[in-house]
Amino acid sequence: MYSKIITIEQHILAGEKRHPEATGVFSNLLYDIALAAKIIAREIHRAGLGKWLGEAGTINVQGEKQMKLDIFANETLIRMNSFTGRVGVMATEEMELPVPQTPIMRDEGKYVLIFDPLDGSSNIDINVTVGTIFAIYHRRSAPGSPGTLDDCLQPGRDLVAAGYVIYGSSVMMVYTTGDGVHGFTLDPSLGEFLLSHPNIQIPQKPLYYSTNFAYEDIWSEGVRRYTDYLRGREPEEPSASLSTRYVGALVADFHRNLLRGGVFYYPMLYRDPQHPKPKMRLLCEAAPVAFIAQQAGGYASDGHGDILDIVPTELHQRVPLFIGNRDLVEKAETYIRRYG
Ligand code: AHG
Ligand code: MN
Ligand code: MN
Repeated sequence: MYSKIITIEQHILAGEKRHPEATGVFSNLLYDIALAAKIIAREIHRAGLGKWLGEAGTINVQGEKQMKLDIFANETLIRMNSFTGRVGVMATEEMELPVPQTPIMRDEGKYVLIFDPLDGSSNIDINVTVGTIFAIYHRRSAPGSPGTLDDCLQPGRDLVAAGYVIYGSSVMMVYTTGDGVHGFTLDPSLGEFLLSHPNIQIPQKPLYYSTNFAYEDIWSEGVRRYTDYLRGREPEEPSASLSTRYVGALVADFHRNLLRGGVFYYPMLYRDPQHPKPKMRLLCEAAPVAFIAQQAGGYASDGHGDILDIVPTELHQRVPLFIGNRDLVEKAETYIRRYG
C-alpha cells in the first residue's frame, strides 16, 4: 500500500476548499506561520554554536529575563506578518501592548494573531525542547484603521485556529481550525512540513501526569489531594497508575500528553496566601492549547470551568491550567470543588 505525501500547504488548501466563502487569506496566514517556524527552527538548531546562547539583557512585560532567541523568534513572527495585509493586529507574550502597526502593515487585515514566540525559554541554552504557540481570531473592529486591544481580548471559544510548533528531536507543527488536530513533521532536507499525524486524538488510557512538584507546598489543599489521587495515594479512590514526566515547556509537556494521554497542570500558587498567583498566560498559552485539547477529545480547565469560556480582560492575563484527558481534568475540578 502506498500512503499519500501531503505537504502542509496542500493540507491547508484542502481545508480552504471545504469553505466556499474562503478568500485564501486565512490559508496564507497559516502558511506564513509555518514559514516563520522554519526560520526560527533554523536558528534554534544552531543555537549551541554560540550566536543565540544566553540572555539578551532585557526584561519583558512579564518581568522575565528575555533570552536572545525569545527576541529573535518574536521579531521573526512580527516581520513575517506585518507586511502581508492579512493581520489587523498582533499581540505577543514579549510586548506590553498589541504590536504597533508598521506603516506597511495594512489596516484591512481581518485576522488577529496572538503568540508566545518561544515557549520554554529556560530550555534553550541546554538543548532541550522549546516551542512556539499561536492563536488566530477574526478581527472584530472594522478594517480600515489599525486593529485594537479589544480585538485581542476574545475568549478561546471564538478561536478560528490555534497551533504550536515543537522544536524537539524533530520539528513539528500541530494545528486545528476546528476540524480536528493535525500534525506535520518538518523534513529538513526538503524544508517542507509533511503530514505525519492526521486527526490526533488523545488516547483513552492516559500514561502521564506532568507538573512542577517544587511548588507542592504552595498549592491548595485540593491540588495536593488531586496529586495524591494521581499517585494512587487516595485510599478511597484508587487511580490508574501513571508515570510522571515534566520538561518545563508547556508545548513539550502538552504535546507528549496529547500523543500518549495524561494531564499537565500548573495550578494557582499560594506564595502569598492572600494573593495567590497563576503562571500560564491565557491568550498566548492556555487558550490555544485548550482549543487543541478540545479538538483532540480532551479538555482544559482553570480548576473551575472550561478555559475556552474565559473572557479576557487584560492582554497578559494569567490563569491556572489543567489540561489533558477529560476525565483527569474533571477529576481536578472535583478535588478543587471539594477541598479548595
Ligand atoms: P515561557 O518560556 O514562554 O516564559 O513559558 C514558560 C512556561 C511554560 O512553558 C512552562 O510550562 C512553565 O513556564 C514552566 O514553569 P516552571 O519552571 O515554574 O515549572
Ligand atoms: Mn510560554
Ligand atoms: Mn515565551
